Amino acid sequence: MTTPSQQPSPTPKPGRDPAERTHAAAGEDVDVMAISPVREEGMLTDEPPAETFGADVVAQAREIIARYPQSRSALLPMLHLVQSVEGYVSQEGVAFCAEQLGLSEAEVSAVVTFYTMYKRKPCGEHLVSVCTNTLCAALGGDAIYRQLAEHLGEDGKPLGHEETAGTPGEPGSITLEHAECLAACDFAPVLQVNYEYYDNQTPEKAVELVDSLRRGEKPAPTRGAPLSDFKSVERQLAGFFPEDDDQFRIDVDGPSQAVETLRGAQLAAERGWTAPAMAEDVPLPEVEAK
Ligand code: FES
Repeated sequence: MTTPSQQPSPTPKPGRDPAERTHAAAGEDVDVMAISPVREEGMLTDEPPAETFGADVVAQAREIIARYPQSRSALLPMLHLVQSVEGYVSQEGVAFCAEQLGLSEAEVSAVVTFYTMYKRKPCGEHLVSVCTNTLCAALGGDAIYRQLAEHLGEDGKPLGHEETAGTPGEPGSITLEHAECLAACDFAPVLQVNYEYYDNQTPEKAVELVDSLRRGEKPAPTRGAPLSDFKSVERQLAGFFPEDDDQFRIDVDGPSQAVETLRGAQLAAERGWTAPAMAEDVPLPEVEAK
């Protein structure tokens, strides 16, 4: 006969239980490593993990750091470099930046979580940002976002903010996000794909756009540089461009001025309006010495 305290513990199932509990609950005949939640989550494998940030990435990191008098100033482009490798900033990416820049992981994490351009979940091949700030929202931005969320969702469930349709990083995968004012109110409602502008959108035009992205096409943005993909743009944001000047122009340049944007300046010129001249004898405010 067994007393309650002598009852054998139930064999734990793989799951998210802390490892100590798993170990304590397992009998001697249980292969603890085999049922470890760590193994189930893919963190423990028989093969050593491939190095995410190899020698080439370290060399690029050093190149970024050399641009600044103090290494910590290189954090923002470094995080873009990490995103060009991983498609987001993982905890490993945080540790990489901290190590390269002599910062703590907490300092790097504070920056990553502050700026919306740094993603904490793997991104799709394309990042679609729909402006739902006041002017765009009033002119149809909310309807565009809703339509895209439903169109890209599955089983009747709309895609959520920063969620991805398809497998992140795979061709045709798309991450959808709400964006605050994209500084293009004169073309509202607007959206961006990998930070390139698609102006004067409608729900129908936006659905057509994401469908062509899913087919592997790259429709030309309304203005600016041609469309590439999220990781390539992150590389540019880290400050790496083609050395060949012609290729550089093709990759990153493009006409960006538009009649709508210039209209105010044209009206002012026609009517002779100018900004008030600055009086020469007005002293500039004192700036605190650094
Ligand atoms: S409100 Fe959408 S670009 Fe300004």
